[in-house]
Amino acid sequence: MCVPSIEEAYSLRVPKRDGEKAIKLVSKMGLFNKELKIESKGEYLHIPLIWKPLPDEIEEIRRILKYFRIYVRNFQRRRKAPRRAFEVAAEKLPPHLLASFPRSMDIIGEVAVVEIPSELEKYKRVVGESILESHKRVHTVLAKASAVSGVKRLREYEIIAGLGETETVHREHGCVYHLDVRKVYFSPRLSYEHKRIASQVREGETVIDMFAGIGSFSILIAKMHNRVKIYAIDINPDAVKYLKRNIVANGVLDKVTPLLGDAGEIIRRSLRETADRIIMNLPEKALEYVKVACEAIRPEGGIIHFYSFNGGQDPIDEAEEMLRRAIAEAGRRLSHVLSARRVREVAPGRWQVVVDASVD
Ligand SMILES: C[S@@+](CC[C@H](N)C(=O)[O-])C[C@H]1O[C@@H](n2cnc3c(N)ncnc32)[C@H](O)[C@@H]1O
Repeated sequence: MCVPSIEEAYSLRVPKRDGEKAIKLVSKMGLFNKELKIESKGEYLHIPLIWKPLPDEIEEIRRILKYFRIYVRNFQRRRKAPRRAFEVAAEKLPPHLLASFPRSMDIIGEVAVVEIPSELEKYKRVVGESILESHKRVHTVLAKASAVSGVKRLREYEIIAGLGETETVHREHGCVYHLDVRKVYFSPRLSYEHKRIASQVREGETVIDMFAGIGSFSILIAKMHNRVKIYAIDINPDAVKYLKRNIVANGVLDKVTPLLGDAGEIIRRSLRETADRIIMNLPEKALEYVKVACEAIRPEGGIIHFYSFNGGQDPIDEAEEMLRRAIAEAGRRLSHVLSARRVREVAPGRWQVVVDASVD
């Protein structure tokens, strides 16, 4: 297949003087399309984006940049870009199936995770091999074989190419995470959220990460701040095994305490009235744990980062209302919504939402 050297993409146009700031920002937000060249024209820089920013992403950009415009324009591909997986696959797939080639995948360390559409089922090996060929660091390609489910929030996978080794090391925001993709929950799509929350923590705080997984919030918070105490809880023994390993690997033994068990039981047993901040990243069940989170917050108040799945006319409104009611039922008061945003679309019309709320 002939690879076009020009491609249409969303562009963030900024005055040249804001160029560096803007590139840093879109990189941090995971929006920067590194396969296309940044263009310089007159007094402006045009930065290629992966997708059209969501309303709250635009808000985030507006907080940092005074002058900008977002619109679609043509960009040149980077000449040295390696062949993309679908370009490799194009040589082996029937042409009518090329449009079904997965548009995105998650890369976790050396493992790629992809969703195979039913029409490509017969060709999943071709998909896997193409990904291996185009991503030199990837040694194993997994196809999603179920939805995320169960208490441990795991899914099943089928190995479609490579070594079949699912234990790997992933890097995010300067931290290293050892994990086994099959045994613990981890999503690189939460990278921006991990950084966003960690940046809000202040020196001296005690934080409870109720559903900590392998430590992607807890460890980053510990790395970014000198005087913090974090209790990282998870019910999955494998998650806590990797959490402990990651605490050592990132040199934060003195700041993060790993705890295995049900967050509700652990808090009621030993962490009542201790926390300045609580992270509740278990969207399908966080609501059930708001009462115990309120018990964990200091009597003088604190902050809750509440994740949930919402739909309807206004998913953010729905999440805020759920949280406000649950906090009131727990005998406390949601005093302010500090911020609220859609994290990602999990099904058509259904969103993972986060509400950052202060409680008194
Ligand atoms: C969506 S994952 C979040 C992982 C992590 N916070 C992150 O950002 O990668 C939810 C985690 O909660 C854990 N979990 C589920 N129920 C729990 C409970 N009752 N108490 C503590 N952890 C629980 C699961 O094992 C899983 O690792």
